[in-house]
Amino acid sequence: MLKVAMIGCGGIGYYHLGHLKQYGDIIELVGMCDIISEKAEEYAEEVGCKAYTDYKAMLDDAKPEAVFICVPPDCHGEIENDLIDRNIPFFVEKPLALDIALAKQIEKRILEKNLITAVGFQCRYDSLAEHVKAFAEKNTVPFIDCTRFGGVPEQEWWKVKERSGGQLVEQTVHQLDYIRYAFGEPDTVFSMAARGYVTDIEGFDTDDLSATVVRFENGTLATIATGCYAKSGDCFDSKFIFSAPDKRGEMHLLSKFEIFGEVEQEKEDGFLISGDGGMGGASDEGTVIQNSVDAGLVCDRTFLEAVISGDGSKIRSPYSDGLKSVAFGLACNKSMETGLPVKISEFLK
Ligand SMILES: NC(=O)c1ccc[n+]([C@@H]2O[C@H](COP(=O)([O-])OP(=O)(O)OC[C@H]3O[C@@H](n4cnc5c(N)ncnc54)[C@H](O)[C@@H]3O)[C@@H](O)[C@H]2O)c1
Repeated sequence: MLKVAMIGCGGIGYYHLGHLKQYGDIIELVGMCDIISEKAEEYAEEVGCKAYTDYKAMLDDAKPEAVFICVPPDCHGEIENDLIDRNIPFFVEKPLALDIALAKQIEKRILEKNLITAVGFQCRYDSLAEHVKAFAEKNTVPFIDCTRFGGVPEQEWWKVKERSGGQLVEQTVHQLDYIRYAFGEPDTVFSMAARGYVTDIEGFDTDDLSATVVRFENGTLATIATGCYAKSGDCFDSKFIFSAPDKRGEMHLLSKFEIFGEVEQEKEDGFLISGDGGMGGASDEGTVIQNSVDAGLVCDRTFLEAVISGDGSKIRSPYSDGLKSVAFGLACNKSMETGLPVKISEFLK
């Protein structure tokens, strides 16, 4: 049994705990750590292991063989370096750091040690990814439109851009990552942000919205709009449009991928249906492919199995790749600050 521990027993920690509890066939949970003792104790009690407030004490005492790092965006660095020192593979939540120099330093050490790592970009493991990738391969896609609008999460750190990275880096990085995964690497970004619409949240010190134009290395242009000022579910929105000359793909992350203009598709796993429930002809309503897997569950299992086998090749987002998605977002932040376009290759130097 692989000995697994967690650092950071908050919202996303609980999400992973729900997965890890189902994997008693391959792992043993040996420690839950949070600087707030009640949180660590609550999680540890739930799974019957030991609670810690100091992660170094947990590493020494519980001797985990794999660790889930679920701390806020501004709490990275020391934890990763301590795990690398001890050759412990880790799963780290996105955004894996807010300082690109720090992320690169960590990446260098991971590569030197050939350590297995994974980043919490679980959307890559949904059952839609292969269809979106196929759409990208089969079609010329001159333009992608991406939106994500919602409210302000309750975490105190989220409301301060210096601590969270802002919405684009903290939340919409899932969208940035998915576009990279299916369509390729961004070349240049130009972003603007606005404030003044969220007026009723104490301590709110981040952008209310941002709009970004991206040129990809393959020539595709994209717009990415994201906002956290939405107060009603009617204003919530999260989708991509992949625009090709003779068809259009519309994607709702972790939910469905609808292709307009494609006459026929092969049935796969019984999940491919046209708008009226029949097979084949797609017209106004498109051909709908529903997501059929719990992507987070698969994502966590893939990491654990990789550590057990020593083969990280099935991990869809190792640290080095996750770093590129975060760099994409941080480059947008730089553009917002400077008012100038930012070339990703320059930003990563
Ligand atoms: N993959 C996803 O879909 C997804 C979803 C939500 C959050 N996240 C990411 O997960 C991270 C955490 O988010 P959250 O919502 O769980 O935050 P949270 O504030 O609910 O939980 C973070 C916990 O980490 C603890 N912590 C901080 N420093 C620590 C340290 N040195 N040692 C031990 N514990 C420490 C805090 O006390 C807190 O309990 C963020 O980076 C966020 O972006 C990812």
